[in-house]
Amino acid sequence: MTQPTITAGGFALRPFTPADIPWVYAVSLDPAVQKYVQIPLPYRMEDADFFVRDMCIGAWERRERAEFVVVGGAGERLGRVALGLDGNGAAQVGYWMDPAARRRGLATRALQELCRWGFAELRLGLIEWRAEVGNVASRRVAEKAGFTVEAVLRRRLVHRGERVDAWIGSILPEELAPGGVGEQLLEEFERSPGF
Ligand SMILES: CC(C)(COP(=O)(O)OP(=O)(O)OC[C@H]1O[C@@H](n2cnc3c(N)ncnc32)[C@H](O)[C@@H]1OP(=O)(O)O)[C@@H](O)C(=O)NCCC(=O)NCCS
Repeated sequence: MTQPTITAGGFALRPFTPADIPWVYAVSLDPAVQKYVQIPLPYRMEDADFFVRDMCIGAWERRERAEFVVVGGAGERLGRVALGLDGNGAAQVGYWMDPAARRRGLATRALQELCRWGFAELRLGLIEWRAEVGNVASRRVAEKAGFTVEAVLRRRLVHRGERVDAWIGSILPEELAPGGVGEQLLEEFERSPGF
């Protein structure tokens, strides 16, 4: 199966290409990404190259990950959403947004579309979310997309060599908002600056 492009109102999720490497590098220098996403530090262009070629393009071919670039109507890069596939019908989400595209409801919408595709096309039975305790933006996105936060996992993440507590949550196929993204979110997106 070729990795598809998933279209939604006003944006799309498309596979990564090597042309995305400089953009991945630039976003990975953002302080919030460096604080909350487990990436090498200091982050180098070679890390972005490895991420795109191996963890995005190669990992889809190995059926380990489904990584997508969130793009706007003119093809502009807005962020990244991903499913890490466990090979047994479950997946773990990951996401970050370009700092210029934040606070417009886009991460929430992109996550919903990713989950819809994962349930429908990959036939997943469960999608899990984990974040470092205190990452309220990530938690809000997950909850707005329909995830239920279930527990705190003690010291479950290793971040910059330190063990930190993690929130864990999940969404089941029947919990996704029916029939595309909610109208309210769509309206919020269309009213937002830069649409
Ligand atoms: C988390 C992240 C993806 C959110 O992206 P976004 O496009 O700004 O999110 P949305 O616009 O969809 O916001 C959804 C909700 O989260 C809230 N939110 C977003 N950023 C927030 C912040 N920094 N602090 C508090 N709430 C925040 C929004 O207000 C909105 O809630 P509301 O509708 O009740 O107001 C983005 O901040 C990011 O890339 N962070 C760094 C990487 C990261 O932490 N990734 C997750 C790792 S688990």
